[in-house]
Amino acid sequence: MNLMVIGGGGREHAIIRALRKNPQVQTIWCLPGNGGIARDAQCVPIGAKDIPAITAFAREHPVDFAVVAQDDPLALGCVDALHALGVACFGPEAKAARIESSKVFAKTLMAKYRIPTARCEIFSDAQAALAYLETAPLPAVVKADGLALGKGVLIARTRDEARQAVRTLMQERKFGDAGSRVVIEEFLTGPEVSVLAFTDGKTVRPMVSSMDHKCAFDGDEGPNTGGMGAVAPNPYYTPAVAEQCMQTIFLPTVRAMAAEGCPFRGCLYFGLMLTPDGPKVIEYNCRFGDPETQAVLPLLKTDLLTVMQAVERGELDSVPVEWDAGASACVVLASGGYPGAYEKDKPIAIPAELPENITVYHAGDRLAGDTLVTAGGRVLGVTAVAPTLRRAVEDAYAAVDRIRFDGAFCRRDIGRRALAAGKEL
Ligand code: AMP
Ligand code: GLY
Repeated sequence: MNLMVIGGGGREHAIIRALRKNPQVQTIWCLPGNGGIARDAQCVPIGAKDIPAITAFAREHPVDFAVVAQDDPLALGCVDALHALGVACFGPEAKAARIESSKVFAKTLMAKYRIPTARCEIFSDAQAALAYLETAPLPAVVKADGLALGKGVLIARTRDEARQAVRTLMQERKFGDAGSRVVIEEFLTGPEVSVLAFTDGKTVRPMVSSMDHKCAFDGDEGPNTGGMGAVAPNPYYTPAVAEQCMQTIFLPTVRAMAAEGCPFRGCLYFGLMLTPDGPKVIEYNCRFGDPETQAVLPLLKTDLLTVMQAVERGELDSVPVEWDAGASACVVLASGGYPGAYEKDKPIAIPAELPENITVYHAGDRLAGDTLVTAGGRVLGVTAVAPTLRRAVEDAYAAVDRIRFDGAFCRRDIGRRALAAGKEL
């Protein structure tokens, strides 16, 4: 089997490492990949958004199965284009990817099918949005409709901030057309849980739950980032909560997408908040989360390719998906200055021998000759798997402390909140 993976971050590295475990897998091409991924796959310098170049590559190479892992190619119809060539793919077609690429689509779907989420109003006119905000409850959450690198959500605590949020998104168009419409939501409270789920449009198989750490600095301070670390499982996600989510959120969402004529096949990511009124959807993503994937996939016992092929064939009900009983922690090592401006091209030193339970996923680096150098904001995701979450966190940090590059920084409290939740994980 020859595989093609579209994307080039830590998530894609974790997916490739899991796919490699299947003895039938021969070549894996990763478009574009990165410096670390180049040790596990053949990297091809084609950007993940360049659909014509991706399809040309698929036409010229014996690709048996493709995994489209990143949000923009999914929204741009990469899976549709590959299907048109007859290439089997893991990932939703563009019309199903709208569940992430349009918040208006997602909110309208949830309202129609009574899936619990924050109450909201939708605006395509800035004046109407501003008028609504004069009396809207505060804090108000103002979200750009389209994809905005995870930065299109503004939480306004005062009316001034709320007005400014609308101006930033709709008038200044900070995120371009993503802000041509906005969703203004009520502010919810409660612990957040990420649940990634395999689904073939009918059956849903949730993965081990996880917790992201979005803020740049310890104690959830500082600006939002792509994610500074993740732990799995998430202690707030008890079996009772899981069952409630399955019945009120996961199955209704998958059925709603099928009923709307856009069945979702791939990995559906549920960003949940466990509010005093029960679990509610904060966001959907149409793909594996980053860095959640780096914490979740190392716990997968079943062969990933087998599960992905079952999803593609619509036969997920025939494949049991099994998980290790242990826990994992992924600590992101970032470039100094991230998520603001940062320097690149710093040589990275990773010890040749790290303990067996450690995997270093490469997110933002490249090979300069034989030397790995930094090339992005989030550079590495250092992941440990252990029988307990406490051990996983300790082991991940012990490994982090042996890895060096100029200006490297990480949060020192990944997993602290999960451990404080008081479970013996
Ligand atoms: P999103 O990109 O939609 O996941 O939003 C980013 C972050 O903003 C989430 O992880 C939450 O922490 C926060 N957030 C989004 N929507 C709400 C809401 N309605 N109430 C409170 N916090 C929210
Ligand atoms: N970790 C959140 C995301 O992948 O969007």
